[in-house]
Amino acid sequence: MVEGVLPQYVLRDLVSTTGDLAALPTTVVRLLDLLKDQTCAADKVAHVLDQDGAMTANVLKLSNSAFYGVRGTVGTTRQALVLLGNRAVLTLAFATGMVPVMRRNLTGYGIDRDRYWQHALSSAMTAGVVMSDLGAPERSCEAFTAGLVHDIGMLALDSHLATNGMKLVPAFPLFNVNERERETLGFDHTDAGALLAENWGFPAPLAAAIRYHHRPWAVPHDKDLVLAVMVGDMVAQMADDHLQPEAWPEELDYLAPWGIDADHLRQLVDSVTLAPEETLARATRPAGLPCQPSTPVSIS
Ligand SMILES: [Fe+2]
Ligand SMILES: [Fe+2]
Repeated sequence: MVEGVLPQYVLRDLVSTTGDLAALPTTVVRLLDLLKDQTCAADKVAHVLDQDGAMTANVLKLSNSAFYGVRGTVGTTRQALVLLGNRAVLTLAFATGMVPVMRRNLTGYGIDRDRYWQHALSSAMTAGVVMSDLGAPERSCEAFTAGLVHDIGMLALDSHLATNGMKLVPAFPLFNVNERERETLGFDHTDAGALLAENWGFPAPLAAAIRYHHRPWAVPHDKDLVLAVMVGDMVAQMADDHLQPEAWPEELDYLAPWGIDADHLRQLVDSVTLAPEETLARATRPAGLPCQPSTPVSIS
């Protein structure tokens, strides 16, 4: 055993006592309940948003960005629901609600808040596109959400690293970060993320995507969602860290039966080199709405 490696049983305590990570904002908890509800009724989404003025303002601001092609016409939550669709508004709301939880410096990893958030958004965007390519466009918002939160385990582990004055070396890029976590701590961010997802009451498919995104071959069901998130993670690293697909030989072999090869991954990189706000809008935009570039608005 490497000196300092923690026994597995410590992980549960570590994840459940990570300060302000222990609880999610109330509105996000309510949105999680809606994410589990396949019907995703408009009145339920509106009811949750009506109770959070700041979130509603952010959702309306994003809805009015020209990325959706409805600039200046969305004045109320109801209009957003009609024009963009219930699932897109729910995804936008969840993403904006997760900003204060996720956009933070990971000092134990040496990653600043914008870099971590950009990785989450790039992964989310690609996961949404891949899910569409796999023939399930109705699940692209779900894949976007899974891609957004796939590395939340790093938030829990960072608290532990920072509290104990530890740093993962080398801190960046994220490539093979889970191996370095295992060497240092005895477990990795997929273990921690799955526990955090359980504590937070995430929908089961989301929790599975978090647990298996570095080993999708092990997931017992719903392989498409985990695969979409794995590809999202790889493409985000290609876009942000200039890695080539050949860095993941095992994953490339696994992806071959789905018709996803190195060239396909390189093409996907082009779709994530966008402003974060455009990334979010493009991934949640319902089919049929034009997507036009505009002055970015900020998600905060
Ligand atoms: Fe990861
Ligand atoms: Fe990742």
